[in-house]
Amino acid sequence: MHEEISSTTIVEPATKLRGTLRVPGDKSISHRYALLAALADGTTTINNYSMGADCLSTLSCLQALGVSVKSITGSQNTGKTVSIIGQGLGTLTPSKCPIDTGNSGTTMRLLAGILSNHPFTSTLTGDRSLQKRPMRRIIQPLQQMGATLESTDGYPPLVVRGAELTGIDYAPLVASAQVKSSVLLAGLHARGTTQVHEPIATRDHTERALSAFGALIRNTDGAFSVTGGAPLNALKLTVPGDPSSAAFLIVAASIIPDSDILVEGVGLNPTRTAYIDILKHAGADIETAFEGTYASEPYGTIRVRSRPLNNLTITAEQVPSVIDELPALGALAAHGCVVDVSGAAELRNKESDRIAAFAKGLRDLGANVTEREDGFSAFRQNELKGGTADAAGDHRLAMAFAIAALAGKEPSTITGSESVAISFPDFFSSLDMLRQ
Ligand code: S3P
Repeated sequence: MHEEISSTTIVEPATKLRGTLRVPGDKSISHRYALLAALADGTTTINNYSMGADCLSTLSCLQALGVSVKSITGSQNTGKTVSIIGQGLGTLTPSKCPIDTGNSGTTMRLLAGILSNHPFTSTLTGDRSLQKRPMRRIIQPLQQMGATLESTDGYPPLVVRGAELTGIDYAPLVASAQVKSSVLLAGLHARGTTQVHEPIATRDHTERALSAFGALIRNTDGAFSVTGGAPLNALKLTVPGDPSSAAFLIVAASIIPDSDILVEGVGLNPTRTAYIDILKHAGADIETAFEGTYASEPYGTIRVRSRPLNNLTITAEQVPSVIDELPALGALAAHGCVVDVSGAAELRNKESDRIAAFAKGLRDLGANVTEREDGFSAFRQNELKGGTADAAGDHRLAMAFAIAALAGKEPSTITGSESVAISFPDFFSSLDMLRQ
């Protein structure tokens, strides 16, 4: 296997995966800490900030909005310590040019919430993939709070005309942590209280981070509310390893015979670890050991030893809690499980159409996939042949196809593999490190 990240990577079949590793800092948490640090009073230091391209986009957007960001130490692949000098709520300054959020939907949607309460006009743009991602889901509540947002038929670029906002009671139709977070962040500097009632619970990093920074946040019967105007305190923070990045290696190690891996320092927030429960339900041998909390985010170790697994059925109620791990879980089909996912139409709104592009790539590696509007059913008839799968510019598909390819009879080629840099720049060398 070629170690370097390039647009094409050849993945050799694997016999077993063994060893101990750490994964990059959590992408979702890194974004939130950087955004809140920019609104806090004073200098926040963030250790193990994700060096994935998405989280770097958040830093450059903040710089475009007048925030001083310094990266102090660290390496490209291990995460850096970043310090951000906040000037307080409502103190971002207008950007001279459109703000480029790159491939990052989280950056665009969360920043739109923050810019909605700043009294100037901003244009948020992104790459070709992001231009296809729906924004009405945040435009509607932010307009209801008092901002004006313009888009092209609900798609970026987004023009945000900030205003004095008033808190709302909002029940999004789609279970999305980005929508919830956009509204709560707008509420930070709004009159009164802003409340979000989710249809199904999603990752709660914004709520935990808001509470750590000192915002007035409450949870009433599962609905989160923030009362505007309370100043945020600068903090010293550490970002745990990203469980969604770890998922690719955990899934692979759970089924490739004779594997035994240990992932250290990884986030164990229960709103992110449902994929471990799903794997265990299918018979996987996975032990998690809690070691502590960083700013109310639990972390610890995950040990995985391989075992034959049963088939997996993932339903609509489970989808929001495993939305980012569905490509990894789907890759189990290449290793002999039948994987059936339904109620996951939201996958079509991700960095690629993750149902169509996943089905095509997995088929090209030799598996059988039936695509449905809201999901897929995947299995392999015989031993997987291997082949060439295109990641469609989507980091999670590049990693899913790579772990599927480990089951191949022959080496496989992943095109578009450079996209792993979005969340896990070191993915291919981490995988190589575990090969025995
Ligand atoms: C994220 C929320 C999820 C997830 C994305 C990161 C976040 O998106 O898929 O990778 O950090 O809030 P949705 O909120 O659109 O489901």
